[in-house]
Amino acid sequence: MRLWWCCVIAFVLTLHLPNSAAQTPRIRNKTKPRTAPTTRPAADHLSTAYYAKSCPNLEAIVNRKVNAWIKRDSTIAPSIIRLHFHDCAVRGCDASVLLNHRGSERSAHASKTLRGFTLIDEIKAEVERRCPRTVSCADILTAAARDATILAGGPFWEVPFGRKDGRVSLGTEANLVPQGHENITSLIGLFQKLGLNIVDLVVLSGAHTIGRSSCSSIQQRFSNFNGTRKFDPSIDINYLNSLKRQCKLGTNFVNLDVTTPRTFDVAYYTNLEKKLGLLSTDQLLHSDSRTSPLVDALASQAQLFTSQFAVSMVKLGNVRVLTGKMQGEIRRNCNFVNS
Ligand code: HEM
Ligand SMILES: *[C@@H]1O[C@H](CO)[C@@H](O)[C@H](O)[C@H]1NC(C)=O
Ligand SMILES: *[C@@H]1O[C@H](CO)[C@@H](O)[C@H](O)[C@H]1NC(C)=O
Ligand SMILES: *[C@@H]1O[C@H](CO)[C@@H](O)[C@H](O)[C@H]1NC(C)=O
Repeated sequence: MRLWWCCVIAFVLTLHLPNSAAQTPRIRNKTKPRTAPTTRPAADHLSTAYYAKSCPNLEAIVNRKVNAWIKRDSTIAPSIIRLHFHDCAVRGCDASVLLNHRGSERSAHASKTLRGFTLIDEIKAEVERRCPRTVSCADILTAAARDATILAGGPFWEVPFGRKDGRVSLGTEANLVPQGHENITSLIGLFQKLGLNIVDLVVLSGAHTIGRSSCSSIQQRFSNFNGTRKFDPSIDINYLNSLKRQCKLGTNFVNLDVTTPRTFDVAYYTNLEKKLGLLSTDQLLHSDSRTSPLVDALASQAQLFTSQFAVSMVKLGNVRVLTGKMQGEIRRNCNFVNS
C-alpha cells in the first residue's frame, strides 16, 4: 500500500515538474541583488507573484518573444532597455511612452529614435490570447527590459509585477528625459525627482555599455569651443576625429561604448577614464567630484556593476507606479487607452 502511494506521488511530481520549468525564463542569472528593492509606498503593492495564478506563463511568453527578436536583430535589446527608461522617467512606469496618438510622448522630438514598440505589441497580443485583460503594458515592458538585459549578457533580477497602465501621455513631458546635453547637477536633480540617487544615476548610465546613439545627440561636441577657443579637453582627440568621420549625417549612428559595443561589461566606465565617453553627460560623470569616485569604483569591479545594476533597475521599474483598483487600467492594446 505504502509503495503504491509512493508511485502515485512520484508520478504526480514528474507531471508537474516540466510544467513549472516551462514557466521560468530559460536564461537567467540567479545572482541575488544585494539590497532589498526600494520601499516607495506604491511599489510596496508590487509582487513577483502578482500573476502567479492569473497568468503563470507571462514570463515565459515575454522571454520567448524577446529571445526570438534579439536573435534576428541584436540591436533591439538596448532599444527595449531605453524604452523602459523613457517610460519610467515620465509619469512613472505606466506605459505612457507606448500610447500612440497625436501629441503623445511617443510623437515628441525627444522620442524620435525610440524603438521596440512592435515587439511590445507582439508580446501583448500573445499575452491577451493567453490571459485576456489581465497583464498591463507597463509590466510587459518592464519584464521585456529585464530579459533584454540578460540576453545582452547582463544580470538577472526578479521583476515585481502589478503596475497599471496610465491614461495620459503628453509630448511636452517627453522632454523631461535627459537628452545628453545636461550638466551633472541637473541629472542628479532629474533622478532625485524619480526617487533615484547618485549611485542609481551612475550605475544606470552603465546601460550605455551597449547600444547606439544618433549623431544628432552628439553634434554639439564637434563644435565645443570653450573660452579660449580650444576643443573640449574632456574628449580624446582621435576619438573625436573618428566620430566626426562617422557622423556625416545627424541620422547616422555611433556606438555608445566604443571599445566593446555589444558586450554588457564595465568598458563603459573604463572608457570614461580614457576620455572615450560618447555623450557629454557620460563623460561628465567622470569629471564631477560627486560621481567620479563611483565611475572609478565600477570601472574596476565588474561584480559590483552587475549586482548594483540589478538593484537599480528594480528601483527604476518601481518609479511612481500606479497600483490598486482605483488607479490606471489594464490596457487592451498598448497603443491606446481603453474606451
Ligand atoms: C543619465 C541620463 C541619461 C542620458 C542623458 C541618456 C541619453 C541617451 C542618449 C542621448 C541616447 C542616444 C539617443 C539617440 O540619439 O539615438 C541614449 C541611448 C540609450 N540609453 Fe540613455 N541616457 C540616460 C540614461 C539612461 C538609462 C537610465 C538607461 C537605462 C537603464 C539608458 C539606456 C540607454 C540605452 C540602452 C541606449 C541605446 C538605445 C539603442 O541602442 O537603441 N539610458 N541615451
Ligand atoms: C545646470 O543646468 C541647469 C539647467 O540648464 C542650469 O540652470 C544650471 O545653472 C546649470 N548648473 C551649472 C553648475 O552649470
Ligand atoms: C578651455 O580649454 C583649455 C585647454 O584645455 C583649458 O586650459 C581652459 O581652462 C578652458 N577654459 C575654460 C573657460 O573652460
Ligand atoms: C552570474 O553573475 C555572476 C556575478 O555577476 C557572474 O560571476 C556569473 O558568471 C554569471 N553567470 C552567468 C551564467 O552569466
